[in-house]
Amino acid sequence: MTTVAPTQSATSFTPRTHWCGEFTQTTIDQTATINGWVQVRRDLGGIVFVEIRDRTGLIQLVSDPTKNPAAHAVMETLRSEDVICATGPVTHRPADTLNANLPTGEVEIYPETLTVLSRSAVLPFAIEDDTDAVDENLRLKYRYLDLRRPRMAKTLTLRHRITQTIRTYLDEHGFVDVETPVLVKATPEGARDYLVPSRVHPGHTFALPQSPQIFKQLLMLSGVERYYQVARCFRDEDLRSDRQPEFTQVDLEMSFVNQDDVLTLVEGLVGKVFESVGVTVSLPLKRMTWHEAMNTYGSDKPDCRYDLKFTDLSETFATSEFKAFRGAVDNGGVVKALRVEGAASYARKELDDLQSMAKQFGAKGLAYIVYGEEGPKSPILKFLSDAEQQAIVEKTGAQTGDVVFFMADSFVKGCTVLGRFREHFAKRHNLIDTNRHELFWLVDFPMFDHDVETGHLSPNHHPFTAPRPEDVDLLNTEPHKAKAVAYDLVYNGNELGGGSIRIHDKHLQRHIFELLKLSDDEITQKFGFLLRAFEYGVPPHGGLALGLDRLVALLSGCDSIRDVIAFPKTNQAVCPLTEAPSEPSKTQLDELYMAWNLPEPEEK
Ligand code: AMO
Ligand code: AMP
Repeated sequence: MTTVAPTQSATSFTPRTHWCGEFTQTTIDQTATINGWVQVRRDLGGIVFVEIRDRTGLIQLVSDPTKNPAAHAVMETLRSEDVICATGPVTHRPADTLNANLPTGEVEIYPETLTVLSRSAVLPFAIEDDTDAVDENLRLKYRYLDLRRPRMAKTLTLRHRITQTIRTYLDEHGFVDVETPVLVKATPEGARDYLVPSRVHPGHTFALPQSPQIFKQLLMLSGVERYYQVARCFRDEDLRSDRQPEFTQVDLEMSFVNQDDVLTLVEGLVGKVFESVGVTVSLPLKRMTWHEAMNTYGSDKPDCRYDLKFTDLSETFATSEFKAFRGAVDNGGVVKALRVEGAASYARKELDDLQSMAKQFGAKGLAYIVYGEEGPKSPILKFLSDAEQQAIVEKTGAQTGDVVFFMADSFVKGCTVLGRFREHFAKRHNLIDTNRHELFWLVDFPMFDHDVETGHLSPNHHPFTAPRPEDVDLLNTEPHKAKAVAYDLVYNGNELGGGSIRIHDKHLQRHIFELLKLSDDEITQKFGFLLRAFEYGVPPHGGLALGLDRLVALLSGCDSIRDVIAFPKTNQAVCPLTEAPSEPSKTQLDELYMAWNLPEPEEK
């Protein structure tokens, strides 16, 4: 019979002398103690091999039943993920058992003492890097096991490294880390708020901050000059692979600066971070205007690792007989074309599917001309004059084998929808050069998003963003045409960060609130404290926030930011591990003077 420690036993525990990943030829003949988890056990006719894992790697233990029968007996009982403590001499592996795949594969340990500190139950999934077959919900339910996988452990460490690099850089550049509150008054970043009811003030709630925006501006009024914070933000929005309900920003703000100062500082920072993972970026970063990005790529975060540029055909169709195109131009919109090489081979069904996609994207359709061997073919050909057909070929450069796709709509909508097709075709035709790193600034954003039909304005960034000085007058005449001193950092088609120079004049700030159709009462109620603060001497200031989760995900090649967050939520905004959110107790609700007003359960 073997005896193993059945209960927690502090006395039998010896702290490690080495990490598992540390063993090399130079450690041979030393006596080592290791602490860790059983990765795998193999019984080979009387001899037992066990791989032990800690966060640094794996090392093999080998039992010798003749020399150390007690340790051997324990080895025979080990199962995956048992926690052990073992001590013994480090030896050279026999030539025929060297493992070139393992960094420690030249050595092994013969345990003289071996203690089981804790037993593991049968695992819901194996602790190994290949998790393709494992459902993500299961991984999240057992996240503590999932995080034992070397890949996850590596990502957590990388995240730490990147954060350290950022902190060091900002410290060297005179930034002060200041914490701002998490129970706040609603902040206007455009998403829905998470609310926290106040027990002390029945009927009132705090909001969780969508970002520290207002507080960091107030800190500039306080003379902090250079603020940063690795700040948690909360936004109740539709989740995707790059969006979590709570996420982390590297948030910063600077006083007495202009746009160039902020961009130079931040690109220095991002350059350091990229360098730390072996990617060289050449500074200063390129800048692209919002208009160029939309006009050419149909996105305010274009992926420039591939070409696929739009051709503008608005002029060609300004006098056309084809109503769908001419109408868009008459209404002040555009006709944009995208030539896709090789698409003439698409089957009919694929072209039909593109029509359904266009409808899903909210467009009226996606017209096309197929340039096949027998000449151009298209349902819209009969509406187009010879001159128009010729102009299309000349302007887009269409050749046999290509398809030209068309989108006619308002500028923003038409470009945006065709931009989504641009991404679709890039994937469909494998055009993305994954070895390229396209990191640049997008500048000159519009002040407002403009609903063409209702005339409604909403902030494109947030309502504290300053207009370009030359556009201040436009605010009185055509505010939807005003551009802001706002900028985004774009990397391979992702928005890594965004910021702006802020308004520091109380009259201008009030004017913006008014353009956003806030009543005097609303302005006082929501932003009275800010306007009051603006009475007392405001330095010109500006800043930016980087999405830390996105940065780490992109630099570690993870598809989802969930993979770089220790305990993320699912796309349904739940935590499968703790089963949050959960129902509050009756007592809790009573204390808050709250009752539910739940919807009827939906009919199945
Ligand atoms: P913004 O709203 O653009 O700006 O956010 C800055 C950056 O944060 C990241 N981000 C997110 N990451 C994960 N999940 C989310 N739900 C999410 N939402 C945003 C993005 C984005 O670029 N206060 C301003 C900054 C400023 O003006 O200084 C702000 O929050 O990478
Ligand atoms: P219709 O004349 O409406 O049948 O449209 C003919 C073709 O043009 C169809 O393939 C539509 O999908 C496409 N189409 C219609 N409106 C637009 C538009 N605004 N932009 C691009 N294509 C369109």
